[in-house]
Parts: sequence; structure tokens; C-alpha cells
Amino acid sequence: MKIARFSRIGFILAAAGSAVGLGNIWKFPYITGEYGGGAFVLVYLITVALIGFSLMIAEMLIGYKGRKDTVTSFETLAPRHKNLWKYAGFQSLAGLLIMTFYSVVIGWIFNYIVTSLTHLPSSVKEAEVTFGAMLHSDFATQLFYHTLAFVIVSYIVSRGIKSGIEKLNDYLMPALILILTGMFLYALTLDSFGKAFAFMFAPDWSKLNSEAFVAAVGHAFFTLSLGMGAIMTYAASMEKGSNIVSSALWVVFLDTTIALVAGLMLFTFLYQYGSGPDKGPGLVFISMPAAFYEMGTLGNFFAVIFFSALAFAGLTSAVSLVEPTVQYLIDRFGLTRTKAAWVSGFFFYVVGILVILSNIEMTKEYFTWDGKNLFDWIDFLTAAVMLPLGGLVMSIFVGYILPKNEVEATLRPFMKGYFNIWYFSLRYIAPFALFIVILNLLGVV
Ligand code: PHE
Repeated sequence: MKIARFSRIGFILAAAGSAVGLGNIWKFPYITGEYGGGAFVLVYLITVALIGFSLMIAEMLIGYKGRKDTVTSFETLAPRHKNLWKYAGFQSLAGLLIMTFYSVVIGWIFNYIVTSLTHLPSSVKEAEVTFGAMLHSDFATQLFYHTLAFVIVSYIVSRGIKSGIEKLNDYLMPALILILTGMFLYALTLDSFGKAFAFMFAPDWSKLNSEAFVAAVGHAFFTLSLGMGAIMTYAASMEKGSNIVSSALWVVFLDTTIALVAGLMLFTFLYQYGSGPDKGPGLVFISMPAAFYEMGTLGNFFAVIFFSALAFAGLTSAVSLVEPTVQYLIDRFGLTRTKAAWVSGFFFYVVGILVILSNIEMTKEYFTWDGKNLFDWIDFLTAAVMLPLGGLVMSIFVGYILPKNEVEATLRPFMKGYFNIWYFSLRYIAPFALFIVILNLLGVV
């Protein structure tokens, strides 16, 4: 059987499609708002440059050399203790866990595309009530759109790397970039752009506590899709001889630029028409629709294309969250791709229903522990615990376990003298920073 591989540009688009997701447009602006802007953005940017980029190369390298699902890749590449290292590959299960709430949020976005066509809330208050009503009492609507997200994602993954995932990204990524650029250019013409710019780039160091620091590092991982094998699994289908370093650079560049552009655009709209930046997870679903309302009929149009862009970003990431498990089921258990895709989909679909129930007024007490509901628990466990842990394991694997000469032989041609800097950062800076993050989570520091 001929194995389908990404084209060069197809790989970059798909990996960037994985990285650019709800993390960039939904999460980044609201956590920037919560942690006070500039100083937080600076820590995030430094983390991306110093740790994110190094690890992106490392994760691509494991996939590129392993050529299989994550478990098999770790197992075949490890020079010793293969049976132990293969467990590192199970980090890919984090993707299915993330999907349980990711699919629900994509569902909310579908719902907002449809309702924004005809109706926008006339005030932030009304927007809050609308969002709350959907979240806390409208089980049927959430289930309907979550089902739709499940069917679309599983179908695309079942079509495979070439005619499913690559094709999806070929269309949706350019569309996403076009929409965001258009909205950004419009934001540039508004008076409040300067204010948004100052909020995002003037650092207020008094706001930067250790919690903000850990959140910035954790987010850098989440937004770059690092630490769970999504990038690794895609890299297994890279053309032989591809330039890993320039691909990694493109993905990091696109992800970071899109986060900054989306953030600037959102904050400009919020200052101009709405209520300011600190609205929490509802920022995109509460403040933005109210801001669009102020724009008149043009607002409906903007709202629909904005939520479509958000859906595009979400879908291209969603397929990359499922693919590692699907590849694992194919490579290790001999399932057909179709079966593997629907079995994996079924898992996140069913748990996703529980995630919806954990927000519904009548049922939430059964799904809440320690003040956090299932939704928050899964978000916390994956983004704050599993991804940094996965990143730590990868940096140790490439930095200490793989023979240096093998790593160097693959990468030196693309890096020249920078190889030593990269290797140093992978061996010392990345593990150290990730270790601190994990200690902090455990409450030790
Ligand atoms: N990077 C995606 C986002 O920003 C989420 C994601 C995380 C995707 C991990 C794949 C793996 O939304």
C-alpha cells in the first residue's frame, strides 16, 4: 500500500492549522485580559522563542525519524529500555481528552454563527444572559452542535492525511488568514487601536505574579500544540528530506502572529464598542457579540465571518487532536482508518456529553468536584499538567536519550552553527522551565 504523505506546504499548513486554534482566538485574548496585558504577553513571547521553538523542532524530529504512531516512534527510536519509553507515546491520549471540551466549544461557535445571522444582543448584559442560558440550561442545542462537530471531525479524519486533513487545511487556513487580516485592517482604522496596542504591549510588571507566569508558559504549550504528539504524528507523514527547522519556524511564526493579530483586533473592537478586556472565558461569546451589535447591520456580517473564522481555527486543530490516537489504533491494532476514526470520535463524543452536563444547572452537581466541574478539570489536567509533562519527556528524550550524533546528522544541515544553541536550550533551558511549572502545579514552589 502506498503511504500518503503531506506535500511540503501541506505539512506546514496542517501543523500551523493544528497550532492556530481556539487557543489563539478564544483563550489567548481572555487570559491576557485576566492577567493584565503587556507583562503577560512578554512572558508568553519569551517562552515561545526560548522553549516553544526548541521543542517544536524536537517533537517534529521524533515523528520524522520514528515514521509511525507516537508509541511506536518512541519505542523504535529509544536505544535502550524500549519497553519503558513506549509509554511516553501515550501522551497522545491527552488529545482525545482535550477534544471532549474542544468539540463542545466548537459546537457553541456553530450555534453563534447561526444565531448571529439574525440576532445580536443589544447590551453586554443581554449577551451575558444569552450565553448563560445556552451554557446552563440549553442541553439540546449544545448536544446538537456537539454532535455536528463530532461528525465533521470524525469524517475528515477518516478520509486520511492527504484527502482529509491536508485538504481541510488547504481551504480553511487561507480563509482564516484572509478573514482575520480583513478584520484587523478594519480595526486599524478605529480610534481605539492605540489603546488596544498599549494594553497588549506596555508591560505592567506589578501584575506579573507566579500564577501569571505559569499560565503564560502553559499557554505557550497549548497554543503551539506541543507535548501531546499532534505535531509528532503529522511529522511522521512528512516527505523525506523536508526541512524540519524552517517548517518549525513557519509554524511558530504563524501561530504567534495570528494570536497577536487576533488579540489586537479583539481588544480594539472591545474598547471601541464594548466593555474593555477582562471578561474571562465568555469574552468572545459575550463582549464580542455586544460590540458587533453597536456596528449596526455591518455587525451581523462581521459576527458571522468572525465566528466562522473561529470555527475554521477550531476544526483544523480538532483533527490534529484526534489523529494521534487514530494513527495509534491503525499501527498497533490494525484497525482500518474508518473504524479507528469513528471509535476515537465516539469516545470524545460520549465524554463530551458529560462535559455539557457538567455545565447544566440541573445536573452539574454530579459532575463537580472540589469546586471545579468536569469541563474545568479536563482543561486543567490537559493544558496545565499533561502537556508540560509531555514536553518535559520529549526534551529529555531528544536532549539526553537519542544519540547526539544521530540528532546532529539530521538537523545540522538545516541549522549550521545554531545547532549548539538549540541543543543547549533543549537540554537545559526547556527542562528547567518545565520542571518549575510542574513543581508549581504540585504546590512545591
Ligand atoms: N493548539 C491548539 C489551540 O491553540 C490546541 C491544541 C493543543 C491542538 C494540543 C493540538 C494539540 O487551540
